[in-house]
Amino acid sequence: MRIPMVNLRIPLARTQDAWRHNLNQMDQRSQYLLGSQVVEFERELALAFRAKHAVGVSNGTTAIELCLRDAGITNQVVTTALTAPFTGVAIQAAGATPVFADVDPDTLLIDFENAANRVNRRIGAVVPVHLYGRPCDMAKWRPVVRSHGLVIVQDACQAHGALSAGKPFTAFSPYVAYSFYPTKNLGCLGDGGAIVTSRSRIASRLACLRDGGRKNGEQVSRMRGGINARLDEIHACYLRAFLPHLNTWNEERAKLAALYDALLEGVPAVRRLQSVPGSVNHLYVVRVKRRNRLRKYLAQLGIGSAVHYPVPLHLHPAFSDCKQKRGDLPVAEKAAKEIVSLPLWPGMTDSQVQEVAEKVRQFFRS
Ligand SMILES: Cc1ncc(COP(=O)(O)O)c(C=O)c1O
Repeated sequence: MRIPMVNLRIPLARTQDAWRHNLNQMDQRSQYLLGSQVVEFERELALAFRAKHAVGVSNGTTAIELCLRDAGITNQVVTTALTAPFTGVAIQAAGATPVFADVDPDTLLIDFENAANRVNRRIGAVVPVHLYGRPCDMAKWRPVVRSHGLVIVQDACQAHGALSAGKPFTAFSPYVAYSFYPTKNLGCLGDGGAIVTSRSRIASRLACLRDGGRKNGEQVSRMRGGINARLDEIHACYLRAFLPHLNTWNEERAKLAALYDALLEGVPAVRRLQSVPGSVNHLYVVRVKRRNRLRKYLAQLGIGSAVHYPVPLHLHPAFSDCKQKRGDLPVAEKAAKEIVSLPLWPGMTDSQVQEVAEKVRQFFRS
């Protein structure tokens, strides 16, 4: 691909002194799990995200799962139909059943009214997803949470550094789950994740749960539901090198997204998403007519693209337990047929964005 969807070489090259230094330190200590790289990374991440604690885990899916396990949620959980299937997989792994809500047609984030209307006595938790790096309006959830005693687990797997109404996500609930899948705004070179919280007791329970229910290698007798979900030291070496650059990289993404917005304005077949304050532009997504043909055309020209996500989760065979059928969530169903993610990464040049936008315009002109 001449212009791929993402290019991870640039962040790696920009930070190589730092990650090589961390890798050397790790090798000198010969401790490859729960050593000083993970401990330091957890401290640095909590500081960067204005929270008290961060607990490194093996991926974003287990981050969500462990939050639900810690909160004892085994009944039903409301989440958005437009998200990575892993959001639903995590809910199931915790022993609960997902119930899907529709999305807002302008932002593609969970539709608050639609979701709140699904809350009843069987619902134990809500998992709002800060999709594409765009934060949900978390303040709206406060009264619903209070009146129904709900737990909120925020899926921030695509939203490293994003804020809701100017506040860090931990201001709205004690469970915020992140993924460090390689292509994320903060990614490692494999699978990784973290839970960020400002509640000390929750952080110490989660630290046990991710290590099979152990504390400092000793089984904690009252701890049930532990799994092996540790973050590897080697990933922490890279994450520690990348973290100090996250804000700069997010600013680069914001500029590139604004350039796409300006270049695609006025193309009748392209519908841009409504901008959401506090977004970190994980993905640049637009809604288009003839989406699959456009993708083929771009691919022939050496331009990458992707669809996040082609099947709304209520229509996914893996989630048939939800008993929701085609037509139940019309906004998500329509959006899933139209959305396309265009290339975006820190280090991408303005002329690359111009080329992609020009080819999109060209496709619709023809
Ligand atoms: C919205 C969302 N939720 C959950 C996940 C799961 O994260 P991971 O792949 O690290 O398990 C991802 C990542 O793909 C995601 O994008």
